[in-house]
Parts: sequence; structure tokens; C-alpha cells
Amino acid sequence: MNILVTGASSGIGREVALAFASGGAQLFLWGRNEERLTAVADDVQALGGTSEQRTVDLTHEAERHAAVQALPDTLDVVVHSAGTIALAPVADLSEQAARDQWLLNAHAPAMLTQALLPRLRRAAGHVIFINSGAGVHARAGWSAYAMSKHALKALADALREEERPHGVQVTSIYPGRTDTPMQHEVRRQEGGPYEQEAYVNAADVAQAVRQAVHMQPPSSMTDVHVRPR
Ligand SMILES: NC(=O)c1ccc[n+]([C@@H]2O[C@H](COP(=O)([O-])OP(=O)(O)OC[C@H]3O[C@@H](n4cnc5c(N)ncnc54)[C@H](OP(=O)(O)O)[C@@H]3O)[C@@H](O)[C@H]2O)c1
Repeated sequence: MNILVTGASSGIGREVALAFASGGAQLFLWGRNEERLTAVADDVQALGGTSEQRTVDLTHEAERHAAVQALPDTLDVVVHSAGTIALAPVADLSEQAARDQWLLNAHAPAMLTQALLPRLRRAAGHVIFINSGAGVHARAGWSAYAMSKHALKALADALREEERPHGVQVTSIYPGRTDTPMQHEVRRQEGGPYEQEAYVNAADVAQAVRQAVHMQPPSSMTDVHVRPR
């Protein structure tokens, strides 16, 4: 199995890579930070897996394009985990913050998926979007992030119908607060304590991804919510 993971250098993406490492998959690990990507590749190797890593800023069209060209002709699974968050009420929302979240959380997954479709169709592959509880419910202060994640849900739902005739599956995973560097950043922005024991384990989100990938036909997991108890 050829598996591409974006945001593989940290958090949920890292755990997804580790979850597939021992299964004989060929992993393609994308992120921006070379050092963190190398650390994940080492962890994958320690679990018996094989991977290729690539630094790519997904908001840069040319970088995205070059990274796609370096992939093999078939892809079985693409996990879109790269994401960013900047909280602010609409009254204080900056152009830059709104644009950054839109570009990385919604636009890049759309255009990257489009570029990967020929490879996915050849393998009757599977597209997995790491969405968020904010993709179905927007809370005060979360407008720009929730807008981008609602758009990601729309992308997944349209793509699922479009790709059904081509045998490509589409799954959205909606984690609640998950124990990752992003959640540390969220709590910093919210100004609240970090309650690690109350948050979802990133490894559990990765297990949901694995279950979706390994679901046997004719069934398919379309939407999975992983929430703190
Ligand atoms: N943590 C939560 O509570 C939570 C809850 C619901 C949904 N989510 C979603 O889950 C996904 C993963 O989040 P996480 O918590 O694992 O966050 P994380 O630990 O901060 O990881 C984010 C990943 O995105 C990558 N990334 C950021 N900007 C990028 C860019 N411009 N180009 C390419 N890659 C970029 C980062 O790469 P570098 O580090 O190499 O820059 C990193 O690998 C996100 O889509 C997030 O919205 C998270």
C-alpha cells in the first residue's frame, strides 16, 4: 500500500504514520519541518516500516505541484492532516489569519486531492480528511477555523459522490480536542489550562483512520467522530 500523510511531522499525522508503519505500507511523509519529519521517519523505521519524507509548504502551489510529481503512479491512501488554527472573534479577525486558515485547511486539500485523483483512481484508493468538531459546529471565537473545516466537510461530501463510480472512498474524521502541539496552541490562545487527561489521544484518532482504511466492501466509513468522553 502506498500511503501519503500530510502533516506527518506532528500530532495526529505523526500517529497515523506510526499506525501504518508495521503493516508493510510504503509511507510518504509530508511536512515543513525537516528535523521533525526525520524523527518520525526514524520512528517508522523502528517499527519495521519504510518511508520517504518531503518538506513542502502546502499553501505554495509550485511546491505542492513538485511534491505530487515525485509520488508514485498509484496511491492507495491519502490522509490530509496538515492544519493550522488562529482563534479570534469576527470583530478582530485579521485578513492574514483568515486567509492562512482557508488556504491550508480547505484550499490546499481540495487542490492536492484534485492533483492526486489519477493516482487514487488507479488504486481504487481512499481519501481521508482530518476534519474537526468545528467542521460541524462553529463556536464563538472559532469562525475562521470553523469556516475552513465546514468547507473541508463540503469538499469530502461532494468528492464522495463524484468518486463513487471510480471506486475511490472518502472519509471525514472529526476529532474533538486532541492531545497534540496544536491543542497546546489552542489552549494558549484561549488562555486556559492544558488538561491532557481530558483530551483524545492522537493515537486513537489514528486508529479510527486505520479502521476506515481496513473496512471491507461493501461497507465504507464516511464520517467518524472521535470525542473526549
Ligand atoms: N489537536 C486537536 O485538538 C485537533 C482537533 C480537531 C481537529 N484537528 C485537526 O487535526 C489535524 C492535525 O492537527 P494536529 O493537532 O496534529 O496539529 P499539529 O501537531 O500542530 O500538526 C500540524 C501539522 O500540519 C503541518 N503544517 C502546518 N502548516 C503547514 C503548511 N503550510 N504546509 C504543510 N504542512 C503544514 C505541520 O508541519 P510542520 O510542523 O512540519 O510545520 C504539522 O505536521 C489538523 O487538520 C487539525 O485541524 C486537531
